[in-house]
Amino acid sequence: MEQTLSLEFLRVVEEAAIACSRSIGHGRRKHSDKLAVEAMRTAMESVRMEGTIVIGEGERDEAPMLYIGEKVGQGAPNPAVDIAVDPLEGTNLCATGAPNAIAVLAASEKGGLLHAPDLYMEKLVVGPAAKGKVDLDAPVIDNLEAIAKALDRKIGDLTVSVLDRPRHETLIADIRAAGARIQLIGDGDLSAAISAAVSGTGIHAVMGTGGAPEGVLSAAALKCLNGEIQGRLKVDTNTASREKAEEMGVDFGRIYRTEDLAPGRQIIFAATGVTTGNLLAGVRFFGHGIRTSSLILTYGTRQVQFIDTVRVDKRDGVTVRF
Ligand code: FBP
Repeated sequence: MEQTLSLEFLRVVEEAAIACSRSIGHGRRKHSDKLAVEAMRTAMESVRMEGTIVIGEGERDEAPMLYIGEKVGQGAPNPAVDIAVDPLEGTNLCATGAPNAIAVLAASEKGGLLHAPDLYMEKLVVGPAAKGKVDLDAPVIDNLEAIAKALDRKIGDLTVSVLDRPRHETLIADIRAAGARIQLIGDGDLSAAISAAVSGTGIHAVMGTGGAPEGVLSAAALKCLNGEIQGRLKVDTNTASREKAEEMGVDFGRIYRTEDLAPGRQIIFAATGVTTGNLLAGVRFFGHGIRTSSLILTYGTRQVQFIDTVRVDKRDGVTVRF
């Protein structure tokens, strides 16, 4: 599955990124999202799989396409695949032209990705060195000490990515009191999670509460990159959505680990940059073509591919620059 589908998924995330990147900075986040969703859905049609969306744009009655349970791809007798999508992760980032908006999906064999409800999740993400050395329930300073020790540096040399939200007031104060540096991000904790597992990005951990669907997508990427995520679903004050989550088998007290969120033996994670960020360049239009920067990760075959694609106009005389 990984070998046959990874390049097809590359095309899918590239199409989504290109479509929404036309609206960068236009201040219309919903419109940007719609462009990405439509392009991703169209590109998926030709993928040789019997795909089922397990994390998508919402329930069938609230999303016209890429809704949970939707069948995508060419269908049987191709491989049965579960798919988690976020056609535009960071709709505000795209709408304002801020860094780190990406188009993303993860795929696995059936049952390989947790069907997480659209709730919040408290998260702790670290890279390979600190894997197994942190605990979501431990005090912030203990986790920072463990990460610093694992990376053979001082706490003051760490940078933690945190969503800039009022709910993180205490967390931010605790990180500051411990002496670590913080990158406050407007949106996009999935992009930050990938960065935490890749050395050289300058991000050493992600802490705080973000979307649970993004938590599952993060887990798919982190599993391929040898990183770690721990997450706990936050109880929703809305009774109906809490009951629905419980029906789905959600345990609100439990710490979900990477393997719980993405248990698949075969996983493909694909992302294309929309706006330029820590890891991926954004979509660039240059008159005679389009250039995209993508990341393809596979778990079974353990491949990390950074892919730079140039789509060149079919006209004669078009030059491609290095
Ligand atoms: P969108 O792409 O749907 O705009 O979500 C972006 C995001 O920042 C995620 O990265 C994050 O997990 C979540 O939203 C945080 O939710 P909230 O904005 O409600 O705090």
